[in-house]
Amino acid sequence: MSSEQWAGIMRGDEAYAGSPSFFRFENAVKGIFGFSHVIPTHQGRAAERILFSTVCQPGHVVPNNTHFDTTRANIEVTGAKAVDLPVPEGLIPADPRPFKGNMDVGKLVSLIAEVGPDAIPLCMITVTNNTGGGQPVSMKNIREVSQVCRSHGIPLYIDACRFAENAYFIKLREEGYGEKSVREIVQELFSYSDGCTMSAKKDGLANIGGFLATNDASLAQKERDLLILTEGYPTYGGMAGRDLEAIAVGLEEVLQEDYLEYRLASVRYLGEHISDAGVPIVQPPGGHAVYIDAAAFLPQVKPTDLPGQSVVVELFVEGGIRGVEVGTVMFGRNDPETGAELPAAMELVRLAMPRRVYTQSHVDFMVEAIVEVFGRRNGIGGFGFKYQALALRHFTADFEPLYEVGGGISMS
Ligand SMILES: Cc1ncc(COP(=O)(O)O)c(C=O)c1O
Repeated sequence: MSSEQWAGIMRGDEAYAGSPSFFRFENAVKGIFGFSHVIPTHQGRAAERILFSTVCQPGHVVPNNTHFDTTRANIEVTGAKAVDLPVPEGLIPADPRPFKGNMDVGKLVSLIAEVGPDAIPLCMITVTNNTGGGQPVSMKNIREVSQVCRSHGIPLYIDACRFAENAYFIKLREEGYGEKSVREIVQELFSYSDGCTMSAKKDGLANIGGFLATNDASLAQKERDLLILTEGYPTYGGMAGRDLEAIAVGLEEVLQEDYLEYRLASVRYLGEHISDAGVPIVQPPGGHAVYIDAAAFLPQVKPTDLPGQSVVVELFVEGGIRGVEVGTVMFGRNDPETGAELPAAMELVRLAMPRRVYTQSHVDFMVEAIVEVFGRRNGIGGFGFKYQALALRHFTADFEPLYEVGGGISMS
């Protein structure tokens, strides 16, 4: 965090109710996002749980460009169905188009026609599309999705985790936005929506925290009632006053364009350097992460032998680099009829870059280690599950290698 955020931590007021830190937090959120009700939560998934358990029920369907893992799980636990509607190019890692995070508007229209608007308690758009390769969503796409939703009376929510990075991509890539400030772009983007969930650990630039926001007063009341049951009083949610201060400062700092320029440039630097060495990645590099295309990296490993997990393990063994599989480990499903494992749409490995942490030498080291593993890719095999939980299995799963891990690595 920045020195201003640490100063905020020292100023934090820990009053149980009505702490001034809460009002600074609330003012920052309202000023940037424009929603009238702001509900603090200890992180993003708590906001998701409160939102979905208030509005979803069995038989409901919730569309998203691509659901993040916790978003999907918090919908499914209510008995509702989470449906991903990415644009086709969003599923082609090598395709370099600028807004691969977009939702397929035609598929949204068909889904509404198929299940009826009453079965859709809300529609979501995730900016940037984390599980879809960290790719941005265009303003045009958000406007079109919003028009479809509003014409059917379906509230549109934004999963706002990386709202500032997405807005900066719009500024750089979308016609008509080059001269607008990131704040103006953010304000326009959220004006097309009815609410949002947010993990402040991302573009809140904080270590913990989140919020749920809406313009619907009666919904906000129900959500606050639930908040008290599991998170805490409505002026702190699950957070300490000092966390509220750090987020209030972070939300303003993340709009600074020199910060965003550096952020995107450092991710792009990693992506371009490994891509130049032949490593297949999701193109173009995302806002917060580079995603290795593990299916192309290890074509000899079939999706159900978890090629992404192999790349994750090999990068850790080679260079202590901790990535995460975003493929069949995270999103595979058992076929309800045969019980067989159904692979995910893509086999990716996310290398998310903590903001304000790494220097160029760290990234150069990463490039070397990744290229080294790529050089010995032919000797890498797959993994199998030893243990998996029923939901969100990738957080706690245990694996066994189907080959010799690190084989060929020089340990001298
Ligand atoms: C797009 C997206 N939504 C929701 C979440 C959940 O946020 P949290 O980890 O704070 O619960 C994340 C976290 O990575 C995310 O990337």
